[in-house]
Amino acid sequence: MCGIIGYVGPRQALPLVLDGLRRMEYRGYDSAGVAIQSEEATLGVARKAGVLANLEALIDTGEVALPGSTGIGHTRWATHGGPTDRNAHPHRDSHGKIAVIHNGIIENFAPLRREIEDAGIELTSDTDTEVVAHLLAAEYNSGQAAGDLPGSMAAVCRRLLGAFTLVAVHADVPDLLVAARRNSPLVIGVNSGEGEMFVASDVAAFIAHTREAVELGQDQLVVITPQGYEVSSFSGGEPDYREFHVDWDTDAAEKGGFEYFMDKEIAEQPDALANTLRGHFDGTGIVLDEQRLGEDELRTVDKVFVVSCGSSYHAGLVAKYAIEHWTRLPVEVELASEFRYRDPVLDRDTLVIAISQSGETADTLEAVRHARRQRARVLAVCNTNGSQIPRESDAVLYTHAGPEIGVASTKAFLAQVGAIYLVGLALAQARGTKYLDEVERDYRTLSEMPAAVAETLTMMDPVRALGREIADSKAVLFLGRHVGYPVALEGALKLKELAYMHAEGFAAGELKHGPIALIEEGLPVVVVTPSPKSQPVLHSKLLSNIREIQARGARTIVIAEEGDDTVAPFADWLIELPRVPALMQPLVATVPLQVLAAEIARARGYDIDKPRNLAKSVTVE
Ligand code: G6P
Repeated sequence: MCGIIGYVGPRQALPLVLDGLRRMEYRGYDSAGVAIQSEEATLGVARKAGVLANLEALIDTGEVALPGSTGIGHTRWATHGGPTDRNAHPHRDSHGKIAVIHNGIIENFAPLRREIEDAGIELTSDTDTEVVAHLLAAEYNSGQAAGDLPGSMAAVCRRLLGAFTLVAVHADVPDLLVAARRNSPLVIGVNSGEGEMFVASDVAAFIAHTREAVELGQDQLVVITPQGYEVSSFSGGEPDYREFHVDWDTDAAEKGGFEYFMDKEIAEQPDALANTLRGHFDGTGIVLDEQRLGEDELRTVDKVFVVSCGSSYHAGLVAKYAIEHWTRLPVEVELASEFRYRDPVLDRDTLVIAISQSGETADTLEAVRHARRQRARVLAVCNTNGSQIPRESDAVLYTHAGPEIGVASTKAFLAQVGAIYLVGLALAQARGTKYLDEVERDYRTLSEMPAAVAETLTMMDPVRALGREIADSKAVLFLGRHVGYPVALEGALKLKELAYMHAEGFAAGELKHGPIALIEEGLPVVVVTPSPKSQPVLHSKLLSNIREIQARGARTIVIAEEGDDTVAPFADWLIELPRVPALMQPLVATVPLQVLAAEIARARGYDIDKPRNLAKSVTVE
């Protein structure tokens, strides 16, 4: 939510800042803005509501001069104040000397705003961010740290409650940016060879220039200059940061000939899954090499919670079937936003698995904190090195899906399912519910799934044609049983977020308890069908459900295993999948639902990378 970038170095800042914003537009696209410090000790500022292209068009008019080699930029997902020009960042103090960008929510902004107004200052926006610009100016001009921009920023941060990443630039302080973070993300990009430095919400913003990065702990303040960076704690502790190397390059963050990032990310799923699974069996068992929980600790686990949001929540729902089956441990899957408010029963033998692509989602982060306060052990499954959720967890297993830019999750979802299956196998081994040869066999089966996903991708032409055909529908229902149920939920979520179409996923067994009343003539209903061979009982029950909805006029879209002749007579459209073991089916069955949603959205003329009102990482509750 909101993308932030700052640059100091020898080059002109504007093109670098704009390029960084382009790579982070997935984080918000309600407005964009830049502030560039000139050699004449002035700040050039341009801001515009809407997508980045609007800002670029404004800059192209040449109305604002933006020369200079120190600059900041922001792409916004609106929280306080509508998505207008006046609320676009950067925000300035009354003298136009300081410019500030912000990601997060300052919870005590109302009293701070009153304080500023009482001092006779007129605010020019409805945002919480603008108060920071005025507070910083007051500190810098006449506070205890007068004339010291970092010291003034630290003093301001100590007064703020909530979540924030802030970056500030002062017209009179050349070649220097000061940034701070609490609960919202900020990474430093170090390009010492060129004498230039970056700060950004995401390494994607500077990956074209350097792969050397620094993650920052909570309540850290960083000063960047062309010479380097200096980290300190604004709340009094020791400096807390870690240098790391980004293991993907700029190609991974480009569209590579695809129309949308999401198209590319769907196509990358075999690699995302393979990279996540690779090297996690060493002959003696499953190796979770990035995790810091010992085998003893895994052995004493007596209950598992999975907490997450959005598609990551659906990955947890899928995993529940496998973990319970393999380990005989009870597994509860909970929306992170609900988890900590219902006083879940946790103790030191509870394992909480927090799944998050971004590692930033505010609700998931708070759930992690809540679990740790209750002494539960927390294992993060995360796709983003250097992010907050792994930092605050006892252990981490990274998914290696590479950067996911499309707002709707695709390859990260599949990688999450793969990773959490590894955790399930590790638990089964530690608890002795599986012998080593069984663990090895399951790991091998899992490792064959990238090829099955690749095969599925070659079977998608009929799905695209179907998407175009049903693009005008008012609604689509999704049904499934067993692991097909969370797949149905994920299919419905994809369609809602991309095509803005009413879509609901149901457990097929619940059909007769309500949803069947929604069936009317011509309604498309997607049915994720289990294998007739490995799940014959469920298969025959689902077949009855298909007949029931077809009898009531629904158009049935049946997702079924290749060679399943029994469903064909009841399918208005039959989408075939490669044959895989029952617990692996979500890894292939999700793919046509992603493609279907993308195709319907495309046919309806929507930008599938940037669905309206959404942001890739939700850093506010
Ligand atoms: C947002 C994204 C979803 C994602 C969810 C959870 O809603 O649009 O694609 O599944 O957040 O994000 P996380 O980064 O925690 O997996």
